[in-house]
Amino acid sequence: MKDFQFKNTTDIRFGSNRIETELHDAVAQFGPNVLLTYGGGSIKRSGLYDSVKKILSDLNIIELAGIEPNPKINSVREGQKLAKENKIDVVLAVGGGSVVDASKVIASSAFYEGDPWDLVLDSTKRFKLDQLPLVDILTLSATGTEMNAGSVISNPETNDKLGTYGPNTPAVSFLDPALTMSVSKWQTAAGSIDIFSHLTEQYFDKEKNNDVSDGMIEGIMRTVIKWAPIAVAEPDNYDARANLMWSSTMALNGIVRLGYQDGWTSHPIEHELSAYYDITHGVGLGIITPRWMKFVLSAETVAKFAKFGRNVWHIQNDNDQVVADIAIQAVYDWVKSLGVPTTLPGVDINDDTNFKVMAESAVKVGQLDSAVYVDMSVNDVVDLYKATMTTDGFE
Ligand code: NZQ
Ligand code: ZN
Repeated sequence: MKDFQFKNTTDIRFGSNRIETELHDAVAQFGPNVLLTYGGGSIKRSGLYDSVKKILSDLNIIELAGIEPNPKINSVREGQKLAKENKIDVVLAVGGGSVVDASKVIASSAFYEGDPWDLVLDSTKRFKLDQLPLVDILTLSATGTEMNAGSVISNPETNDKLGTYGPNTPAVSFLDPALTMSVSKWQTAAGSIDIFSHLTEQYFDKEKNNDVSDGMIEGIMRTVIKWAPIAVAEPDNYDARANLMWSSTMALNGIVRLGYQDGWTSHPIEHELSAYYDITHGVGLGIITPRWMKFVLSAETVAKFAKFGRNVWHIQNDNDQVVADIAIQAVYDWVKSLGVPTTLPGVDINDDTNFKVMAESAVKVGQLDSAVYVDMSVNDVVDLYKATMTTDGFE
């Protein structure tokens, strides 16, 4: 187990009916000037927008609407301008991961004189800046952004989709599972696969004998595997929504990765797909992950895959290789059972035009040739993209 230091100061308010009584003071503690950020309108359709405006009616609310999925740098630029012009004290993000991610970078940009894209390209700049406090009301379970310091921002002009980190996690996160009941089947599936992928990225790690983290991850994996299909079939099932929401937070708030080396592979490979084709992050991960598992399975890794198969998928067999193969097929079947595509043509990516350039970028950005569970060259990543064009290798 590697040495580590851990601190996370996000104040979590989990459960229904807390917003009504607690949101006002959670926001107002930072000052009267609020930048309210949200996406394309789901919060208006659900009535959440009206509730928030009513609860905060004595505060000065400035709005930034229209933050898109795979949030674009232009929204951050707009937010930077509004924050400066209106002497914003606190950002209130209401929405999914895209809204919260963009809001974190806006919170840093408020103290930056240049273009916020500089801060995405070089996170170290953000650690030299102040950051506005961020309160969020999460409406989609997926990213873990509600309790981590990360954001992923896209620049369509350069086909970049890059991670950036700031000094602070959100100050306060409201996690009301009932707010996620209106999430579509597609986004529910995608969010659940994203949570599962965060767990596989951390679990399959070079560090051995980290039973604390392995055990926590196995428990959260079993939770997501169990409740995701229920949430897809019964959107109003509170237990399903609650388990997915807390899994989202716990999968990526930093706790389960402690003691690991923490090198991620499927995410950098997927981020290229979203950068070039603007596909849904979790759906891309569902396509990539089973193929990545096949790529990394070897004599060296088979024991970990067998542990995964026995402890997560309850596969009973004495032969590690058999268990590993069944487990990888089980991941593929679970993704498919959620009703999302399992190949790139399924998300309308029909040719290999960008495979080479995407692979080069994924290897560079993700340091895939040196710092991950099993190293990948550019050619390996191209082969992986090619493998996602068909269902070959899966039953
Ligand atoms: O824009 P609105 O109208 O709000 O609609 C959104 C959007 O169209 C909709 N939605 C959200 N809550 C809803 C709802 N619809 C109905 N009812 C609700 N309650 O869902 C759509 C997708 O929203 P988005 O925020 O994009 O989804 P998600 O939370 O999955 O976030 C994805 C983004 O997060 C990044 C991804 O790369 C992607 O850009 N990630 C961020 C991470 C982090 N900060 O730590 C880690 C992740 O690995 C991930 O990369
Ligand atoms: Zn993710």
